[in-house]
Amino acid sequence: MLLGVSGGIAAYKACETVRRLTEHGLLVQVLMTEAATQFVSPLTFATLSGQPVWTDEFTSSIGTPASSQDVVAHIDTVEQADVFLVAPATANTIAKIAHGIADNLLTSAAVAWRGPALIAPAMNYRMYENPVTQENLRALSQRGYTEIEPEEGWLACGETGRGRLASVSRIVSAVLRVLQERDGRLSGRRICVTAGSTREQIDPVRFISNASTGVLALKCASALAADGAQIDLVCGTGVSPELLAEVPAEITKVESAAEMKASVEEQIDGCDALLMLAAVADFAPASAKHKIRKGEHEVLNLELRRTDDILYGLRQNKDIVKIGVSLETEDALERARTKLKEKALDAIVAVDYGTDEAPYGDVSLRAGILTGEGEHLPMGLRTKPELAGEIAHLTAMLLNNKGRR
Ligand code: CTP
Repeated sequence: MLLGVSGGIAAYKACETVRRLTEHGLLVQVLMTEAATQFVSPLTFATLSGQPVWTDEFTSSIGTPASSQDVVAHIDTVEQADVFLVAPATANTIAKIAHGIADNLLTSAAVAWRGPALIAPAMNYRMYENPVTQENLRALSQRGYTEIEPEEGWLACGETGRGRLASVSRIVSAVLRVLQERDGRLSGRRICVTAGSTREQIDPVRFISNASTGVLALKCASALAADGAQIDLVCGTGVSPELLAEVPAEITKVESAAEMKASVEEQIDGCDALLMLAAVADFAPASAKHKIRKGEHEVLNLELRRTDDILYGLRQNKDIVKIGVSLETEDALERARTKLKEKALDAIVAVDYGTDEAPYGDVSLRAGILTGEGEHLPMGLRTKPELAGEIAHLTAMLLNNKGRR
């Protein structure tokens, strides 16, 4: 994607936006106006995006040898991108884009742009409310731009009003939604993804759970959505609300393994695939009606019963693509292979939690992917966005092989 950053104090928020978009697997090419470079160094964006930053048609950019940048850079970059976002967009940049003025790299790229575009204004509230800015934004919206409206609150000039750049979560979610609406590999497909942990109550105030954060599942959901899929997300506990807000999905929140089972069985009918990535409790206690008091017990024995295995219960369903995950501290590949067969899955993500290199819940993990045909992705240390991209890619391939329902 292309991210145009224009010159306002909110440019600092574009740094976090780049980081989060990158974590959802997007390749972000940043274009900055001269004024934007007064607020944030191009090197910051180059570091966060891992891409050279383009600042001007005629000078070399940070991270790129001068010779490889030429005056048609904006045409090249524009041709390669799927979506164009301007954030923050100042009143000046909005006015220029609305009127087709192409006097810097960002505005030239905007004039050359033909695909889906989003604009996130940030300015003083009087500038935002000024009829001329509103007219310019209306003109852009009539030409297909999606406005990510600014929020009310404290402004850098010391006043309060509507003009603060939209939150990073809103911007990321808007970008992912626009990508989802494109004609992608998975357009017309509906995919159920489960995320997070389950929580099994011991009594009304205590529970048993695990440390799953749902990060891998949510990144898979956004990678699938960016490829055009509609996502039904069955979300357990332990998931960051901020990350959840970024994922373009129909979200059903559940707590226990039993609730997750009921929800998955309800969603599955309309779905083409199930990515069972939640860490579902294998055992649950019978919840006491009232709080257990310590005075009444010297030793407290909890009786735990096996929960229903959701995937195993769906093993006869051969119409949909089913992918599971297996986390083990030893024999990770061997055990994953057994689960793949027992649960009649199309693929399984084998996570090796036995090593110290990638602790549970961290940004990266040691994992591989197995299918009925063998090792699709060899075991290795990889980041969650990387692994999520591989899972999304494999899902598209498996769906393609299975054909349309
Ligand atoms: N799973 C499920 N229902 C359960 C428990 C697990 O559908 N009640 C799914 C998980 O979401 C995951 C896969 O089954 O996709 C493997 O989970 P895991 O707990 O690792 O496997 P188990 O078969 O429970 O293995 P073990 O007996 O070694 O715990």
